[in-house]
Amino acid sequence: MLAELDTIQEEALVSLASCDQAATLEQWRIAWLGSKGRLKSLMGRMKDVEAAERPAFGQRMNTLKQALNQAFDHQCSRAESEQSGPAVDVTEPGLPTGLGRQHVISRTIAEILEVFARMGFTPTTGPEVEDEWHNFTALNVPESHPAREPIDNFYLEGGGMLRSQTSTVQIRVLEHTPPPVRIVAAGRVYRPDTHDATHYSMFHQVEGLWVDRGVTMVDLRSTLLGFAHAFFGQDAEVRMRPSYFPFTEPSAEVDMKMRIKGKWQWVELGGCGMVDPNVLESLKIDPEIWTGFAFGLGVERIAMRKHGISDIRWLYENDARFLRQF
Ligand code: DAH
Repeated sequence: MLAELDTIQEEALVSLASCDQAATLEQWRIAWLGSKGRLKSLMGRMKDVEAAERPAFGQRMNTLKQALNQAFDHQCSRAESEQSGPAVDVTEPGLPTGLGRQHVISRTIAEILEVFARMGFTPTTGPEVEDEWHNFTALNVPESHPAREPIDNFYLEGGGMLRSQTSTVQIRVLEHTPPPVRIVAAGRVYRPDTHDATHYSMFHQVEGLWVDRGVTMVDLRSTLLGFAHAFFGQDAEVRMRPSYFPFTEPSAEVDMKMRIKGKWQWVELGGCGMVDPNVLESLKIDPEIWTGFAFGLGVERIAMRKHGISDIRWLYENDARFLRQF
């Protein structure tokens, strides 16, 4: 009889091992441990056992019951953990969330504006859709000037144009603000250039303007030098080469010496000059009292040289693998 109980225990455990779902486990529980299950009916056989053997039989029945209960609990928790999928290891490093970052041009602009702000220039902006008066006429560009050619500008149907330079902001500010004025403005400009490594039909400029009593070329030079030192380092230099712009007199091209791959090189960054008295007069500002300087720098030039980017098109292809580097 006791040997039979061993066989029964074996049978129960084998059939339990194949139960891996809640439903089959429950069927097994009813069949073996339930009130009409196999264990109950085995207990009923106690009366058939000889009196001398009864204590041993009773003990064996207890251990059988314990063994089946334990095995059942164990199998239940195994089935449960298998169904809830692979265990999650909360100590594993998480998947990267792919946080975005500021575009290298936006960052460069923010850095440039910050340097000029420290020198007392108030950051401002102007519209990208402009009229010819702000883009040319008020800037002393004659009606017949080749810069106005339709092939070099984005004129809009129904009038107006996309600004071709941020010098428009000089006019926008001076027509509303009486001098003294000291502003810096960054933004997009548009020219229908064929795209290549150094040309794009949209790019960014930073414009500066300071109009006050007694502003001279020396202030212009020291402002640009102050910027170069703050932005490119104390060894940076500024070079001004005589040039021509309709809205400044005298005018100059600005070069700055910056460190590129460890070597100092001159890079042409834009134009500058003393605001032409004609510009001030057309805005009803007396050039006998007020003088000023202006400058316009190319942002892409600065960013590309600084980071060793050799093709402007890469900046605007929105390839995250490229942009993530800066
Ligand atoms: N607007 C000029 C350009 O796009 C650059 C420039 C030259 C801006 C001289 C200035 C300036 O403010 O004084 O080529």
